[in-house]
Amino acid sequence: MTRYARITGTGSCLPPQRLTNADMVALLAPRGVETSDEWIVERTGIRARHFVADGVYASDLAVEACRKAMEAAGVAAGEIDLIIVATSTPDMVFPSTAAILQHKLGVAGCPVFDVQAVCSGFIYALTVADSLIHSGTASKALVVGAEIFSRLLDFNDRTTCVLFGDGAGAVVLEASDTPGILATDIHADGKHTGILCVPGHVSGGQILGDPLLKMDGQAVFKLAVGVLEETARTVLAKAGKTTEDINWLIPHQANIRIMLSTARKLKLAQDKVVVTVDQHGNTSAASIPLALDQAVRDGKVQRGDTLMLEGVGGGFTWGSVLLDF
Ligand code: UT7
Repeated sequence: MTRYARITGTGSCLPPQRLTNADMVALLAPRGVETSDEWIVERTGIRARHFVADGVYASDLAVEACRKAMEAAGVAAGEIDLIIVATSTPDMVFPSTAAILQHKLGVAGCPVFDVQAVCSGFIYALTVADSLIHSGTASKALVVGAEIFSRLLDFNDRTTCVLFGDGAGAVVLEASDTPGILATDIHADGKHTGILCVPGHVSGGQILGDPLLKMDGQAVFKLAVGVLEETARTVLAKAGKTTEDINWLIPHQANIRIMLSTARKLKLAQDKVVVTVDQHGNTSAASIPLALDQAVRDGKVQRGDTLMLEGVGGGFTWGSVLLDF
């Protein structure tokens, strides 16, 4: 009998502070940085994002998302035998945010680690967890995306600071006789490091290099629309499915234009795309599990639906997961 990995519960967490585009205009104006609600909505689809308060870390958002996912799955923290956190904004240089999260969940002993694939991080983490469940290494995993991008933003750079937000999403992934994850597909091309990066690093007690986010938006945009179509077709072919089998496309929430372009290329109706970028902005590795959890709790995504999850981001990294929910 095939051993599948199946999502049995979802959860998410957004920090309470919500900033609309009007709030961003007011925040940036004293710096002489001009933007507008019209520009942000037209170019990105973003209307609001959430920022954490001082002293809140990725593991704090993750623990809340995990508790909700475990409650939905009917799984106790003590049953979890693997924790993977996708994040580019860890609490500390080390140990991993997954280790800090494990302790906050009040458990010990199971393997825990972070995955660093920027906005594709959740797709990478789900792929790794799927493999570990297939191999029998794990049976009940927490797979989490948790990010605090507000701390990486340069509020003098209007081309990036209006795009990102904070949040976390989590799933419980369990071994099951029924599908389950049907196919996965992950890729990277390191020659594109410079188009989306935070170049600073810690050395000798100091931060060397710029610790704020840099992005060549147009270059990322062009690469993203190409690879997202390609990986979607690859994962469908691996699973022996067609676009007609997809009930919901849940893409990384970076820009509504990229998301709808992928849907058009796949000949999927726009109303099959789960959209949360308008309310969350780009929450990097958290965006897909946040969107999934919202769609589940809104009653859009139902048990038995076939979902296409897709991510793309810094690295350059990209990939997709096709699954029966
Ligand atoms: O999460 C990882 C994946 N990331 C992405 O997928 C992001 C991909 N890129 C994008 O989403 C888009 O490229 C952006 C939203 C970042 C930018 O949209 P764009 O349509 O590519 O705009 P642009 O960079 O070509 O800029 C157009 C104009 C420029 O003015 P000029 O040179 O035409 O006079 C910018 O200076 O818009 C200006 N602009 C702004 N104006 C008002 C850029 N940012 C802003 C802003 N407010 N916040």
